[in-house]
Amino acid sequence: MHFRKHAPSGALIASLLAAPQLASAFYLPGVAPTSYKPNDLVPLYVNTIRPVAVHDAFLHSVVSYDYYQPLFQFCQPEGGPKSVGESLGSILFGDRIKTSPFELKMKQNETCKVTCPVTYHKGAALWLNQQIKNGLSINWLVDGFPAGQVYNTGNPGFLLGGEVNGEVVFNNHYDIFIEYHTPSASKDEHRVVGVLVQPESKKYSGEVKSDTCLQQSIPPLVLSETGDTEVTFTYSVYWISSPTAWATRWDKYLHVIDPKIHWFSLINSAVIVVFLVLTVMSVLIRALKKDIARYNRLDQINLDDLSGTSALEDGVQEDSGWKLVHGDVFRTPSHPLLLSVFLGNGAQLFVMTGFTIAFALLGFLSPSNRGSLGTIMVFLYTVLGFVGGYASARIYKSMQGEKWKLNIILTPLLVPSIVFSTFFLLDLFLWAKESSGAVPFTTMLVIILIWFVISVPLSFAGSWLGFRAPAIEAPVRTNQIPRQIPPATTYLRPIPSMLLVGILPFGAIFVELYFIMSSIWFSRIYYMFGFLFLCYGLMIMTCAAATILLVYFLLCAENYNWQWRAFLAAGTSAGYIFLNALVYWVSKLSLSGFAGSVLYIGYSLLISFLFFILTGSIGFFSSWWFVRKIYSSIKID
Ligand SMILES: *[C@@H]1O[C@H](CO)[C@@H](O)[C@H](O)[C@H]1NC(C)=O
Repeated sequence: MHFRKHAPSGALIASLLAAPQLASAFYLPGVAPTSYKPNDLVPLYVNTIRPVAVHDAFLHSVVSYDYYQPLFQFCQPEGGPKSVGESLGSILFGDRIKTSPFELKMKQNETCKVTCPVTYHKGAALWLNQQIKNGLSINWLVDGFPAGQVYNTGNPGFLLGGEVNGEVVFNNHYDIFIEYHTPSASKDEHRVVGVLVQPESKKYSGEVKSDTCLQQSIPPLVLSETGDTEVTFTYSVYWISSPTAWATRWDKYLHVIDPKIHWFSLINSAVIVVFLVLTVMSVLIRALKKDIARYNRLDQINLDDLSGTSALEDGVQEDSGWKLVHGDVFRTPSHPLLLSVFLGNGAQLFVMTGFTIAFALLGFLSPSNRGSLGTIMVFLYTVLGFVGGYASARIYKSMQGEKWKLNIILTPLLVPSIVFSTFFLLDLFLWAKESSGAVPFTTMLVIILIWFVISVPLSFAGSWLGFRAPAIEAPVRTNQIPRQIPPATTYLRPIPSMLLVGILPFGAIFVELYFIMSSIWFSRIYYMFGFLFLCYGLMIMTCAAATILLVYFLLCAENYNWQWRAFLAAGTSAGYIFLNALVYWVSKLSLSGFAGSVLYIGYSLLISFLFFILTGSIGFFSSWWFVRKIYSSIKID
């Protein structure tokens, strides 16, 4: 199946399905190609140095560093490196883009250019050798396009060093291969369409001339851990004409994983999930129809035959199941404040993820627009504070909550401050490691400012509207005195039911999770938003269906405390996600050092927490809809 060839550009479904392929064919408006004349300087920027998985396929570190971290002692451009303007999202996702001393002139092959001599003392050598073993990989951007390594195409970045005959060698020479494309319309304008770097380790002796680095017999360079090592950095540039059009230059990073395998596994799980959900739903609807018909018939009998004691006895006998708790199902749950705050934030997250994925599907978040994903997420989450405030207030009002001031204040503060303080604590760790992954203090301030100046007022406005709107009335009256709840059977006890319900949404996204994890931790470029869209849909479906089923069983067992149960049961899928992260840790990572482990666990916990709020809310809202639906369809005298 070659989607790009067959996909009709107009058909929505086809384009949705083909999105991973199509999206690379039409790029974001606003990212225009840059053309260079021969001899024009093509900028080479340096970015964060990140760990990647080395030969044993394990990731050994999650701490990344600024290119100009003093211990690397990399050559700097004249006047010192300057930061290149970046978006907020790009900074949050770890980019630190700076100028470099490398000079690339369009279509000018050059060999063995010397940048600067450096002396590594033994302390620096010790540290660098450890980092080489950790698999640190250098990231360059040439004309905004990330450089890959010659034998490892498909992933951006190339290694800081390697191992030769059991010795750790340091790469001090770079062969830079730049592919350029000349559009047929213009003869003398060229575009950069591919960048590959082959890093090499060369222990030069004597002066480096323009052909020294071409010699085959140069031994590799080992940084001595007992004394000083003199290192000369060199690079060669080769320009190679390429038929690749500028518009498709990202394809080799985006099509690393064979889409056919991906589709296969996804469709496989989709079929199972849809089948399950449909079966369960049809059984449930059948049962409900029978229940409702029976209840209404009994009602009829009771009305027709008021004096008929036998019918009444029949009624008492038969009137079992979820109808019995009609006077209690809409009773205010315990801790309505906390629940409504969570649900408001869940609604906010839900709308945000939906919009983000929609934007991505439309091709707005192409990787050539660095950091656009992070920026759009921050922006949407901020603006959607309004939705969060509104939802939280409406729910709280419907639950007859009285501490409305507290609700208004906690909605935009509770969950974000948990997220932010975790983020801040993890950042402290990164600061201590002098890692560039640490978000700079000024960025932190900017985020706090955006939060308090835009998001919190919007949330207040939403809350105000929510409290002004009429409360959502329950379809049945709530009794004065609560009913007694009979003891539950094993499966309906809180823990087993949570574990059972939570695994279903997790199953729906399990496959996609693998790819997302590898893009987060292995810095692979994630650009399969078509898949993500489908998975998100499947997850919502399973989450809703499983929770509704649980609530139905609960009500049939005359347990009317469904609100928290629905929220927690659906939210349990986040527990599975955390568990999955732990399994991933054991099977794919081999982190050396305490900080790496803390960071990994911390970020996993953070993501799981947000996921808990999101899925919990999906579970609650669908159950709420369900409960309202069934109790409004029976007559109650
Ligand atoms: C530059 O070097 C590459 C690789 O050796 C070669 O294919 C290309 O023709 C050279 N380009 C120029 C302009 O000399």
